[in-house]
Amino acid sequence: MGAQLHGTQTFDNAKRAEIKFSEEAMKTVQTIISHYPESKIKSALLPVLHVAQAEFNGWLSPEVMDYVASVLKIKPIEVFEVASFYTMYNLKPVGKCVLEVCQTSSCWLNGAEDIVKYIEKKLNIKVGETSGDGMFTLKVAECLGSCGTAPMLQCGASFHENLTYEKVDKLLADYKADGKLRSYTDLDYKNTL
Ligand code: FES
Repeated sequence: MGAQLHGTQTFDNAKRAEIKFSEEAMKTVQTIISHYPESKIKSALLPVLHVAQAEFNGWLSPEVMDYVASVLKIKPIEVFEVASFYTMYNLKPVGKCVLEVCQTSSCWLNGAEDIVKYIEKKLNIKVGETSGDGMFTLKVAECLGSCGTAPMLQCGASFHENLTYEKVDKLLADYKADGKLRSYTDLDYKNTL
């Protein structure tokens, strides 16, 4: 059993004991950490959380955040404060593919609202929900910096631009056929370190 945390999640000591980066993920984390002086290790938190999210099923449970805190030798609350501030970190279970549809001006003017409704109908979910097969979670996002190719959505490290219903059909079918978890570290992350 664990203690109630932040109203929605509980901390499970047994689960926490099982959490550990794979050898490859730990190597990536160590490389990230090596870029910062020891006294500024907290600066490695954002990229390390991306690695953690990719490693542990696409979301950051209280136990994963506690583990990240122990790796960086900082307080768990410092991890939670950062993870809960940025929308790219998921604090509850999500589907393998998190679809983030931009809803800011350019995308909105070019039909983002209709794209959201189309995806909702197609997957039989609402924004914030996950499809029954566990493949897709639908989110909306603020400007993702691709205003010239509106409307667009992001899934992991991939942008899907100039969206039409046909393009949405294809990308959902492709992701489903592929069946893999998509994360922000999908680009050749190691080459950016
Ligand atoms: S308004 Fe959608 S990417 Fe900028």
